[in-house]
Amino acid sequence: MNAKPIVKWAGGKRQLIDKLIKHIPNNYNRYFEPFVGGGALLFELLPNYAVINDINKELLTIYRCLANKKYFKSMIEELNFHEGHHSEEYYYQVREEDRKPDFLITPIWQRAARVIYLNKSCFNGLYRVNSKGYFNVPSGKKSKVNTYDFDNISKLHRYFITADVTILEGDFTDAVENAAKGDFVYFDPPYDSFDDKDSFTAYSKHDFTKQDQIRLYNTYKKLSDKGIHVMLSNHNTQFINELYKDYNIQIVKAKRMINSDSKGRGNVEETIITNY
Ligand SMILES: C[S@@+](CC[C@H](N)C(=O)[O-])C[C@H]1O[C@@H](n2cnc3c(N)ncnc32)[C@H](O)[C@@H]1O
Repeated sequence: MNAKPIVKWAGGKRQLIDKLIKHIPNNYNRYFEPFVGGGALLFELLPNYAVINDINKELLTIYRCLANKKYFKSMIEELNFHEGHHSEEYYYQVREEDRKPDFLITPIWQRAARVIYLNKSCFNGLYRVNSKGYFNVPSGKKSKVNTYDFDNISKLHRYFITADVTILEGDFTDAVENAAKGDFVYFDPPYDSFDDKDSFTAYSKHDFTKQDQIRLYNTYKKLSDKGIHVMLSNHNTQFINELYKDYNIQIVKAKRMINSDSKGRGNVEETIITNY
């Protein structure tokens, strides 16, 4: 009963799924995904016990609504409302909401529906914020917007209310604190940049730097030393190859789906790094 992501997310792994699946361990206890984003692998596997995490507050409102019957119903009503009112002007009104002082006390289902609606109607379908953390993608100028696939979103709602899924918000290090021997952790961080190209890191107002990639390597090693199965994906850069030289590095080709500069689209090499 696998499902698909609800939002298109920069660095989303939907198109790499077949390759990722080949590298997951045969057996594991709990599933951890500390950079969950659109959740392509989580929704393919639908594990019975999962701990998911992201630093992006707004994204997580969607998963929190999927995990609660009342919030879910209200989010769907709100999405229907957005679809019915969609226009260029309406898009910019909804986009402005995060600039308002009371935005963070807006009901969670309204914030979740806003993220989905903006994701489906904005240019290129991505979530990008400016240095203040405000969503700043222009309208995609669509005349009609479908915000959800009912079968898929219902499947995900069923998944979140029946499986044991913990939703955490914060830095990846805290999300794996309770991982233990026999668990499986999949890290899909913001990409390391190729020297000549900018990578997308505007998921939140915090950038993901080379220092963060090193911090992630240290976490990877610590988990690996504890007997946890660890898989990580990233660009095939020299820096990543040097950091993870003691582990198994597989190189795969992927289509770069989202880039603000259209010259940056095309095939890129990615790595899938496992400790098993
Ligand atoms: C490459 S995306 C993950 C894509 C996801 N695998 C998918 O299929 O859609 C990286 C994610 O890491 C999150 N992120 C950035 N810095 C983080 C941090 N320090 N801790 C946890 N999550 C972080 C971003 O908000 C983004 O959602």
